[in-house]
Amino acid sequence: MKSKAKKIKPVQPKAKISNFTFFCKPALPERERHAVSAWLQSFSPSLVALFSQVAATLVALMLVAPVFAIFELEIPSIAAALIQGGIAAFLGVRLGLASWWLPINLLFSSALVSTLSFGIAPSWFLAGFVLLFLIYWSVFRSQVPLYLSSRKAWAAVDKLLPAKAGVRFLDLGAGLGGMLNYLDTQHPDGKFSGMEIAPLPFVLGWARKKTTRGNYSLQWGDFWPHSLADQDVVYAYLSPVPMARLWRKVCEEMPSGSHFISNTFPVPDVESESVVDLDDFHHSRLYVYRIPARQEMDTSV
Ligand SMILES: C[S@@+](CC[C@H](N)C(=O)[O-])C[C@H]1O[C@@H](n2cnc3c(N)ncnc32)[C@H](O)[C@@H]1O
Repeated sequence: MKSKAKKIKPVQPKAKISNFTFFCKPALPERERHAVSAWLQSFSPSLVALFSQVAATLVALMLVAPVFAIFELEIPSIAAALIQGGIAAFLGVRLGLASWWLPINLLFSSALVSTLSFGIAPSWFLAGFVLLFLIYWSVFRSQVPLYLSSRKAWAAVDKLLPAKAGVRFLDLGAGLGGMLNYLDTQHPDGKFSGMEIAPLPFVLGWARKKTTRGNYSLQWGDFWPHSLADQDVVYAYLSPVPMARLWRKVCEEMPSGSHFISNTFPVPDVESESVVDLDDFHHSRLYVYRIPARQEMDTSV
């Protein structure tokens, strides 16, 4: 493994706001304003989006609505929702949300207003919310949603397992347990385990294990505090967000010579030992990393 040192770019000072643009001058001094926006950006994007929506609603009610009232202007609720959405989209951009949040922030309230006009019973919305919550659980924090490895990924991982009896394998965020179930049928003597934090995928995975009489373990819980010390192979299909942190955990805990496989999302700035192209629907790739010996790690820092 070769860790490449990350180049730190010097931060360019931002151009000063001229007196001409006093109208746009922020209420807070620039340094404090940056501190506030950096603090907000330390939250996950969905919480920043929520903040943008709430703040935009307050701005629309306290600043925009009184102006319309003064001029005795009445506008349709969909137009009001679009004004609120415009403010939310602007705030989202200013707070550093990725560009794909812009249409979501812009259209969220107008979609809400249009949907309410269909007269659907509120219990349907509650049911939809509960269902999504049980599937996605802490995704607003982890930024790792549920999507499943393809059968081609199961078969490719199977080929990457070391040819030894009793091979130990852990799926971090096991979803519905498809990978574990497949590998267990291929290697009845293997020790396959997985951890899943979201309740509904876990229950479905547990039901699958029971109905197929699987000889693997599926635990409900967070994999971050779970030790990786006993594993020959650890597999993850997560998202780009946790990869750097996960690599540190993997290097600290996994035995040297063991393997970490990441589906689709490479570890930033770390060269993989090999890459397997999967000819599946998403044209995914498996990034295979060999855990270096401690001395190798020390010299590569
Ligand atoms: C993209 S899915 C992959 C599912 C499965 N590994 C597969 O390949 O089909 C990622 C899963 O990781 C779970 N997850 C995310 N963070 C987790 C954590 N900290 N602990 C346990 N599971 C987690 C999510 O709930 C989601 O089900």
